[in-house]
Amino acid sequence: MISSVFQSPKKIIYGEGSVEQVGIETKKYGSKVMIITGRSSSKKTGALDKIIDSLKSENLQYIVFDKVESDPSVDTVDLGTKIAKEEDVNVIIALGGGSPLDAAKAIGIMIKNPGNIVDYENKEPQVHGVPVIAVPTTAGTGSEVSRFIVITDTKRKIKMLIGGEALVPEVAILDGELTLMVPSDVTAATGMDALTHAIEAYISKKAQPATNVQAVSAISIISKNLAKAVQNGENIEARSNMLFAQMQAGFAFSNASVALVHAMSRPLGAYFGVPHGLANAILLPRVMEYNRAACPEKFKDIAEAMGENTEGLSLRDASNLAVKAVKDLYAETGLPTKLRDVGVKEEIIEDLAKDAIKSGSALVNPRKASLEDLIEIYKSIY
Ligand SMILES: [Fe+2]
Repeated sequence: MISSVFQSPKKIIYGEGSVEQVGIETKKYGSKVMIITGRSSSKKTGALDKIIDSLKSENLQYIVFDKVESDPSVDTVDLGTKIAKEEDVNVIIALGGGSPLDAAKAIGIMIKNPGNIVDYENKEPQVHGVPVIAVPTTAGTGSEVSRFIVITDTKRKIKMLIGGEALVPEVAILDGELTLMVPSDVTAATGMDALTHAIEAYISKKAQPATNVQAVSAISIISKNLAKAVQNGENIEARSNMLFAQMQAGFAFSNASVALVHAMSRPLGAYFGVPHGLANAILLPRVMEYNRAACPEKFKDIAEAMGENTEGLSLRDASNLAVKAVKDLYAETGLPTKLRDVGVKEEIIEDLAKDAIKSGSALVNPRKASLEDLIEIYKSIY
């Protein structure tokens, strides 16, 4: 018998204004809090103040670690861990986009596990860390519910994917109001990242019934709400729907894996600093074309989830509609479509492909990819 496993936080609190509950939830896990966030956006948007007010109302002691950069590095994790240990932190609030959330989850485990975060690139951390309460302020990574983090090893120019049960936060608080001020290009890129999570989890070799329902729902909600959130950032209904959908996509990929798009996007981030969601967005339509014939039934489902009418069509035509629907949605986001537009150098494509093919995400792709295939895909969207 093949069994499947589905892991999730203990509690999910969803709804506008739910950030006010962060103090009450945090108090259940500890008394000395480290708020881990990015360098500026959570201050500008007022999200950090809302967290601090809630902690103060519960008389909790806190420190703020606001040194997390985009694509958090090993050095940032080391620094945060050192400070957290010195200050005897016993609960962490992760506040921000995917980068602060991933850094916070890494610091949480490194307070309790031996060695350095680099040691866990291919080895699951065994000891549960300091509890993490995750509060996302972008709708994309699903990190608040996932068992994965991505930490950049700048020395090796590698984005390390690290996974394990110990990396699932204890509590996720999803408040759409916190995402209202996200700029439209970031909304677009993070939303396309979430769509990629859902599609890749659905076609992954590790897909399972519990992830399939989450993935299909996420695809449907994202296709109805992403363009609205991009084109009118103050649309709270679209914002809340996107936050919910990216959480579902997070559940799906956390338990079923991502696939070839993510294998190929990570080197783009590591070599050229292309933002994660943007790199996925550029790759997704082309990689879907590459994968379609390996699982046309699933592509037909994706097309239908995105509102395409497949009635009376052959399986080939119906499955092709999934690619068309993603291209149409992508066009509505206004994001660039070529790697050359985001600073990628053509002469490095072979190195990118060599890194991508080594990724575990490539192994669960529905179509077995060769190095030559990956080079061709990169070149075709250059
Ligand atoms: Fe992603």
